[in-house]
Amino acid sequence: EDLEKGPYDHFMLKEIFEQPDVFRRIIEARMDEKGKVRFPEMEMSNDVLGRVGRILITSAGTSWHAGLVGKLYFEKFARIATDVDLSSEFRYRNPIAEGDTMVIGISQSGETADTLAGILEAKSKFCRVLSFVNRVDSTIARDSDAFINLMAGPEIGVASTKAYTAQLLNMLFFSLYMSGIRWITQKEEREAIFEEIRKLPVKIESILARAEEIRHWAREYIGARDFIFLGRYYNHPTALEGALKLKEISYIHASGYAGGEFKHGPIALIDENIPVVCIAPKTEVYDKMVSNIQEVKARKGKILAICTEGDTMVPDLADHYFHIPAAPDFLTPLLTVIPLQLLAYYAAIERGCEPDQPRNLAKSVTVE
Ligand code: G6P
Repeated sequence: EDLEKGPYDHFMLKEIFEQPDVFRRIIEARMDEKGKVRFPEMEMSNDVLGRVGRILITSAGTSWHAGLVGKLYFEKFARIATDVDLSSEFRYRNPIAEGDTMVIGISQSGETADTLAGILEAKSKFCRVLSFVNRVDSTIARDSDAFINLMAGPEIGVASTKAYTAQLLNMLFFSLYMSGIRWITQKEEREAIFEEIRKLPVKIESILARAEEIRHWAREYIGARDFIFLGRYYNHPTALEGALKLKEISYIHASGYAGGEFKHGPIALIDENIPVVCIAPKTEVYDKMVSNIQEVKARKGKILAICTEGDTMVPDLADHYFHIPAAPDFLTPLLTVIPLQLLAYYAAIERGCEPDQPRNLAKSVTVE
């Protein structure tokens, strides 16, 4: 086992650091020389895909957060109305799903009981079912009409890291694939997006090279009872994921909120003892996140900001800041989540917790 971890103390850290290579592998597999997206393993014809009028995503845990980002990609690039459900809710709410609805199951393990039940329910309603799985020999892959291989490589750490970013990247490619079928984006536009995607591995490397900065955050806030994570638009799911990662392995209570919801409740919790992780890269909603940061500051909360390189306003307001390289809005969740994975990992280490085997959690939940 120690050999497999290589120079890393834990699988989770190894898997976090593998992300640049996972991205390179996915990019190479998904983009062909002619500027087209390809999914050779997906056995679903363009005819069938061209008739999809609506997408319903069903998934659990970290894969549910990935689904929330996927919705934004499918709506932006393929212009297909998309809903996202927790698998455990989807299977019991008799979802309205008809002939032109495609149900997408997202699952790292391909064995999550609720997600499996959801896709079987969808099939009984005669919907097409496509799943995004990291295990192509899994039950969910087998029971779907077609599957897409996440290609993250085996994920051992219970807290999902590289499978999450692989889910985002593959869904982004799939949304571009669908946009091609539906003649929504032109070749030149897709080429420009590809150019930006190609830069991601190096950008992630530059974040990982500064992991120590995040370790300092973890050391400083080791005693915090609660953490709040705030993000908007593409980074609202990042806030949810950052909070989930932290509580899963460090056992610090944490909640993620959409920045716009802050005033509707969470703001009541703010005092000088509470660290608030503000995910504020330069995007369309940057100004709104700056307002959130000012609201936290006015109440003496501790601000831990994730912002874009070159930004000066957020670092001025924040108690601590970590910068990520600039990227188009829709790619920021692939970068902002990396420091939050590191924060969870280092918080667990600093608190003496075992990150690869957190108490009460299982890698794959095969019971209801
Ligand atoms: C468990 C794991 C999580 C995972 C979730 C969904 O709770 O601990 O890391 O996100 O199941 O798993 P799946 O394999 O369906 O993505």
